Amino acid sequence: MPRPMTQEALTSAFGGESMAYMRYLLSAEIAEQEGYPNVARLFNAIAYAEQVHARNHYNRLKDLKQGMKVVAEAPFGPGNTSKNLELAIMGEEFEVTEMYPIYLEIARLQGEKQAEISFKWALEAEKIHLELYRKAKEFVDKGEDIHIQGYIWICSICGHTYIGQKPLEKCPVCGAPSNQHKKY
Ligand code: FE2
Ligand code: FE2
Ligand code: FE2
Repeated sequence: MPRPMTQEALTSAFGGESMAYMRYLLSAEIAEQEGYPNVARLFNAIAYAEQVHARNHYNRLKDLKQGMKVVAEAPFGPGNTSKNLELAIMGEEFEVTEMYPIYLEIARLQGEKQAEISFKWALEAEKIHLELYRKAKEFVDKGEDIHIQGYIWICSICGHTYIGQKPLEKCPVCGAPSNQHKKY
């Protein structure tokens, strides 16, 4: 069982990831309706990466059997695709600069190796999400759909996110083989 502070970090991170997952699916619907199919694809792909993160954090808590109140920060105020991308950027920025670096330190200080891995994997993917959403917003603000060369790939073990025609042989973050990389 993880120690209490690590436990709190895991449940909060699970809450944040769960909300990000849902926000991105909802944002994908709007992007589709507004005629940005690639932005919709990006939202759906990254939603899956957040599901992977949520699953990893959730599984670290398998010894619990209790209700917990979760306080997790998330940006609210849905709008059109440009605004939804802005919210996505805010959320990813928060995770990259505040949430995961702190949670990672908590897990490290407490010697919670499994939680540390879970936070590290998420942090690495969020940095990429942030860049992709920034790029998408630049296109959308010019009235264009984002240009994506090939497919968006998500590692189903760690959530690593990358673009390419073919999957990588091995995930550079967790080492999972290409048959574990989901295509969008
Ligand atoms: Fe995430
Ligand atoms: Fe993310
Ligand atoms: Fe991976």
